[in-house]
Amino acid sequence: MLAAVLLSLLAVVNGNVVHRRQLAPAAPVSSSVPANLTAGEDTISTNVSPLDSNTEEYYLGFREADFEKPYANLLCQGCSQVSRATWVFQHGKRGAISDNGTLMIAVRSEIPNVTGEQYDWWFGWHSVETARYKLWNPVAHRYSWRTPDVVDWANRTYAERYIGSTSYVDEYVGNDAAKLSISFVEPSSLGFNTTAWPELGIETVVVAQLYNGDYSLNEFDNVSYLMHQVRRMPNGYRELRSRFFVASANHGTAQLGHDLAVHCNTEMTHLGSFLPELFQEFKDTK
Ligand SMILES: *[C@@H]1O[C@H](CO)[C@@H](O)[C@H](O)[C@H]1NC(C)=O
Ligand SMILES: *[C@@H]1O[C@H](CO)[C@@H](O)[C@H](O)[C@H]1NC(C)=O
Ligand SMILES: *[C@@H]1O[C@H](CO)[C@@H](O)[C@H](O)[C@H]1NC(C)=O
Ligand SMILES: *[C@@H]1O[C@H](CO)[C@@H](O)[C@H](O)[C@H]1NC(C)=O
Ligand SMILES: *[C@@H]1O[C@H](CO)[C@@H](O)[C@H](O)[C@H]1NC(C)=O
Ligand SMILES: *[C@@H]1O[C@H](CO)[C@@H](O)[C@H](O)[C@H]1NC(C)=O
Repeated sequence: MLAAVLLSLLAVVNGNVVHRRQLAPAAPVSSSVPANLTAGEDTISTNVSPLDSNTEEYYLGFREADFEKPYANLLCQGCSQVSRATWVFQHGKRGAISDNGTLMIAVRSEIPNVTGEQYDWWFGWHSVETARYKLWNPVAHRYSWRTPDVVDWANRTYAERYIGSTSYVDEYVGNDAAKLSISFVEPSSLGFNTTAWPELGIETVVVAQLYNGDYSLNEFDNVSYLMHQVRRMPNGYRELRSRFFVASANHGTAQLGHDLAVHCNTEMTHLGSFLPELFQEFKDTK
């Protein structure tokens, strides 16, 4: 009798086991479906201006022309984020320098209402215009350009819009501004099992090679990478789990670890505050 009760209890428990840390299944993501553009036949995505390598031309913050952009109402929402980032580094810092000198950091940011689809869309949309890039981190971002200059987005998913392209950006990380080259790759090329993502609550992972110091396609060291994972939490909101690996020869120092952790949390938290709204309004634009 007791055994039977125990067995039936076990069955009930087993029937209710929620695997994988009790994450709800990821929301259906249309990432396998090509995204649409309202621009009709014109599916060509091009940088808004030619490449400008002269950093004397870059500026922090906004000028009149920036406030004439259709998304200008969102431009300065992040101007008071600095104190929050400082707090995070004091209380949530996670980083290490490995024996071979490679810097590794882990940063968690709350992006409660951002879906993986929106996050993928952002990486295709922002890079072709400096003012869009500035939305993300108004107190640090100075410049953005994408190579190749011209990409046909016809029949591409949001992720396919940026994978294979490289962002040339200039931004302050800590006290110094520097040029960076960020080259987006297929997550599976680093061993991510994308088939397992839905059951893990993972909605996307953005993966890129990183080169610190110039605009170049030839300096990637196959060691320096960034990864941003959008994951659904059991409460249905999302968190962003970011990882950076920066070889010491690629300026991977403890100081950069601190500065990058602060920078990352600042801009990702801020992105979470406006991306859902921006996506609704601009998702069908190039
Ligand atoms: C694109 O538009 C077509 C036709 O209106 C529609 O069937 C399809 O679901 C849309 N795709 C996305 C990703 O919105
Ligand atoms: C996109 O897909 C449509 C429908 O399958 C096809 O007619 C069109 O040629 C494709 N465009 C490009 C640029 O591949
Ligand atoms: C990838 O994930 C799927 C789904 O969980 C699993 O069936 C498969 O074995 C995994 N592949 C590898 C190589 O681990
Ligand atoms: C990185 O890997 C690519 C592709 O395997 C290779 O062509 C390149 O030489 C490697 N770069 C370095 C610095 O090892
Ligand atoms: C250094 O070690 C890290 C962690 O084990 C590894 O990911 C990285 O590839 C190594 N870097 C170099 C330059 O070999
Ligand atoms: C996320 O959405 C909830 C419910 O609409 C809202 O209360 C909350 O302020 C939002 N959070 C952010 C960071 O936008």
